[in-house]
Amino acid sequence: MRYITIALAKGRLARKTLEMLEQIGITCEEIKDEKTRKLVFVNEELGFKFFLAKPSDVPTYVEYGAADIGVVGKDTILEEGRTLYEVCDLKTGNCRMCVCGPASAKEKLSHHELIRVATKYPNIAKDYFYNKKHQTVEIIKLNGSVELAPIVGLAEVIVDIVETGATLKENGLEVLEEICPLSARIVVNQVSMKMENERISKLINDLRNYLDSDK
Ligand code: PRP
Repeated sequence: MRYITIALAKGRLARKTLEMLEQIGITCEEIKDEKTRKLVFVNEELGFKFFLAKPSDVPTYVEYGAADIGVVGKDTILEEGRTLYEVCDLKTGNCRMCVCGPASAKEKLSHHELIRVATKYPNIAKDYFYNKKHQTVEIIKLNGSVELAPIVGLAEVIVDIVETGATLKENGLEVLEEICPLSARIVVNQVSMKMENERISKLINDLRNYLDSDK
C-alpha cells in the first residue's frame, strides 16, 4: 500500500488537526512529542505519513505532490495561489482578512487616494485593491507586526488578519474594510485526488461527519 502523505502547518493548527484526525482513527503518536527533531512521521499500520512545514510552504508541497493532502489557513491558500483542490473547511482558526488603519484613513479609502498599504499578504492586497476596488495603491511587503506600519508612518493602512481585534484596539487602529473570512482548510493534490480517490475521499468524508457531529 502506498503512503498517503499529509503536510501540516506547524503550530497551533497542526495540533488541532492532529486532534481531529485522531477522532477519525488516524493517529500518530511520535509527532506529539514536542521535543523531537524528526521531520517526517509514519503510521505504518494505517499507511499514513505526516510532516510539519512552514505554513506558507504547505500549498507548495501539495501542488508538487510531495504531500497528497495539506492542512493550512485560507489566508495562505489565497496568498500562494497554488494549483490544488480545496476540499473541506475545518471551521477552526476562524478570523478575517481586513483592511485596517486609524479611523482617519477611512476617507482616503473611499476617495480612492493613492495610499500605501503594508502587509504580509501582497497578493491578497493586490487582488483586493486592483481587481475588486479598482484602486491604485502602493503595496509594501512586511514580514510581521504589520500594525506598526500606520503607527510609525510607513503606510496609511494595512491588510492583515484580525481574530479578536485586540491588537488593533491596543494600538488605536480599527477594521476599515473586510476582505474575506478565513479558516483552516484541507487541500489536496490534483493527481492524488484521482489516483488515491478512495482513501482520500474516505478521510474527507470522515472528517466532515466528525465536524457535523461535533457542532
Ligand atoms: C496575527 C495578525 C495580527 C494578530 C491579530 O499576528 O497578523 O497581528 O494576529 O489577532 P487579534 O485580532 O486577536 O489581535 P501574529 O500573532 O500571527 O504575528 P505577526 O503579526 O508577527 O504575524
